[in-house]
Amino acid sequence: MPRGLFITLEGLDGSGKTTQIRRLAAWMARRGLAVVETRQPGGTATGDRIREIVLDARSAALAPMAEMALLFADRAQAIAEVIEPALAHGKMVLCDRFTDSTEAYQGGGRELGSAIVLELHRLLCGDLKPDLTLLLLPGLEASLARARRRNDRVEMQTGTNEGRFEQEQDAFYRRVWQRYREIAAREPERVVLIEGDLTIDDVHEQIVEAVSERLMLVRQSA
Ligand code: TMP
Repeated sequence: MPRGLFITLEGLDGSGKTTQIRRLAAWMARRGLAVVETRQPGGTATGDRIREIVLDARSAALAPMAEMALLFADRAQAIAEVIEPALAHGKMVLCDRFTDSTEAYQGGGRELGSAIVLELHRLLCGDLKPDLTLLLLPGLEASLARARRRNDRVEMQTGTNEGRFEQEQDAFYRRVWQRYREIAAREPERVVLIEGDLTIDDVHEQIVEAVSERLMLVRQSA
């Protein structure tokens, strides 16, 4: 059985990834493809517990290295439990964030550097590379405002504040943004950069174009 495609979505908080992943999953399902949707951190029972620790505003004292170790523990579990088995069964895996997030947020934002992230990825995640990464980078200001509004709304509705990252200062997000752009420049074959303040429909169209191209390549090589 041919291996499935591993597709990741990346971007700043509030970049519209979640909406786009849902639309892409529906588009693929309409074409008869078996799709598994997952997210990081989270996506497994263990991962959901890690997500709580990492994102809870009460974890303010979490050291950057501890934060990164938790994110990699989440990822190693997700690869073993969800991602690898699905790919081996020929399914398409759509993952909301992957190691590029760690490189951008911990490597760039927290200034731990890219080298340690890439090395941990090699050691703990078998260097698993996405076949395609869709990087959504709308305007920085618009993304931040959206993420903060969403976080306030969730806090009002649920009483939990998942916004440890949204509370970071703008300089942190500029570094995240910059590192994402560096990743896209370094790996243009894998990373499709979707920039600017586009409508949801326009972004979806660009995503569908990139995914169709990748699917065609797979069919040709099969
Ligand atoms: P989400 O809201 O898109 O699910 O992302 C959760 C937050 O976790 C987001 O602010 C980015 C952050 N994050 C990291 O800092 N490093 C990582 O490796 C991942 C996967 C997420």
